[in-house]
Amino acid sequence: MADLHIQIDREKGGIAGQIAAELRDSIRGGRLAPGTRLPATRDLATDLQVSRGVVVEAYEQLVAEGFLVSRVGAGTQVTPKNSAGTARRPKVAARPRPVRRALGSPYYGHRPTSPDLGHFPRERWLAAVRHVLTTVPSDALDYGDPGGVAELREELAGYLRRVRAADVRPENLMIVGGVAQGLSLVLHVLSQHRALRLAVEDPTSHRQVPLLRRAGAHLVPVPVDEEGLEVRRLSGDAVLVTPAHQFPTGVVLSPPRRAALMEWAYAGNRTILEDDYDAEFRFDRDPVGCLQGLAPDRVVLCGSVSKALAPGLRLGWVAAPPDLAEAIRRARGELDLGSPVIEQYALAHFLRTGGYDKHLRRMRREYRRRRDALVAALAEELPKIQVKGIDAGLHVYLELPGGWDEQEVVRIAQTLGVSAEPVGPMREFPGPPAVVVGFARLPAHKAAEAVRGLKVRLSPA
Ligand SMILES: Cc1ncc(COP(=O)(O)O)c(C=O)c1O
Repeated sequence: MADLHIQIDREKGGIAGQIAAELRDSIRGGRLAPGTRLPATRDLATDLQVSRGVVVEAYEQLVAEGFLVSRVGAGTQVTPKNSAGTARRPKVAARPRPVRRALGSPYYGHRPTSPDLGHFPRERWLAAVRHVLTTVPSDALDYGDPGGVAELREELAGYLRRVRAADVRPENLMIVGGVAQGLSLVLHVLSQHRALRLAVEDPTSHRQVPLLRRAGAHLVPVPVDEEGLEVRRLSGDAVLVTPAHQFPTGVVLSPPRRAALMEWAYAGNRTILEDDYDAEFRFDRDPVGCLQGLAPDRVVLCGSVSKALAPGLRLGWVAAPPDLAEAIRRARGELDLGSPVIEQYALAHFLRTGGYDKHLRRMRREYRRRRDALVAALAEELPKIQVKGIDAGLHVYLELPGGWDEQEVVRIAQTLGVSAEPVGPMREFPGPPAVVVGFARLPAHKAAEAVRGLKVRLSPA
């Protein structure tokens, strides 16, 4: 519906004529394009503070002149180009349908760690957004608490306590635009008054490296072995870890290492940043609680809905000790005034009504099937590859036999439609060749064929 800018001079009189003249000029000048729908007469009358009859008169005049067309039930629109005075058929509102092709803007997706977005719960999300738009008061759409909508912080705190054994209260939970923004904000605050040396796992998510540096951290790589981060080799003022499912190796931080990590943090008044990026998808092991639940005064927990729902929602959270949480809120208030509120209310509703849990249960079953099919096919066709990190998450870590070329394996996998990434660029310390392969978008019935294709292309003889 066009938002019209119409100026009228009340002193002059002939208001209907003035409105008609303004609209006529706008149509002639191209500011109102053919086919543009005009506001309902009642709405425009309210906007202009005139009686509805005046607007009706103006519209009727322009219909008579052929500038506008009007149909019962379809409202009034600027005469479309292809019509000799007859309006185009009004479009019927359709149910949301997935757009399979990428839209006009560049599309950066298809990471091995991305979920199957074809399973995004469109209908239920739409219902949540509809619920929000029909129930929240208008004031809720104003600038709000830069730390996030209170209802969402309340729901999320309950969810994280229940599912991740986190020790979190709504006031210590800040809503952010994903783990990425959460880490940026935390590091921004921690490095404000000093040079911050941040230990990072090696190998690590190389995509995060630029944002960590940009936020002011000097990175200190620390190797990861079969038990996770080698804590005895740690140095720095803070550490960034993925304890539940190390990225990319998939190793779970062992209980002795968890204890040693806590000790390190307490001994030097250091901060642990816990990236809990794919904790919802745990297949074979009992759930591993987050570190934050053990040491809420030392650990900052970062998570998001990127794996559970969609990365494009850019919705995440940071649970931090009270002072740091407050500093993050302040920083957010100074930097960009917070995250979009309609999505926050929608997620709160989705959590409260059980939609989030239900979706996770369904996806966990589906992803487990896909993972099992991929792992079985690899064991059958390419037994020389060591498959690791399969207990959780949406990717597996494939350690390749010595001498294999990571880039070549990734290239072939991608031509077969399998999402893969080389591990080489993710490490500073040397290690065996390895690739990360995502299974979230590889349907179980296609896994065997894909792996056979990989085998044939790797050994053409
Ligand atoms: C290691 C790691 N952390 C975090 C994330 C999620 O980031 P965000 O929540 O900003 O989408 C990802 C996404 O792939 C990841 O691989």
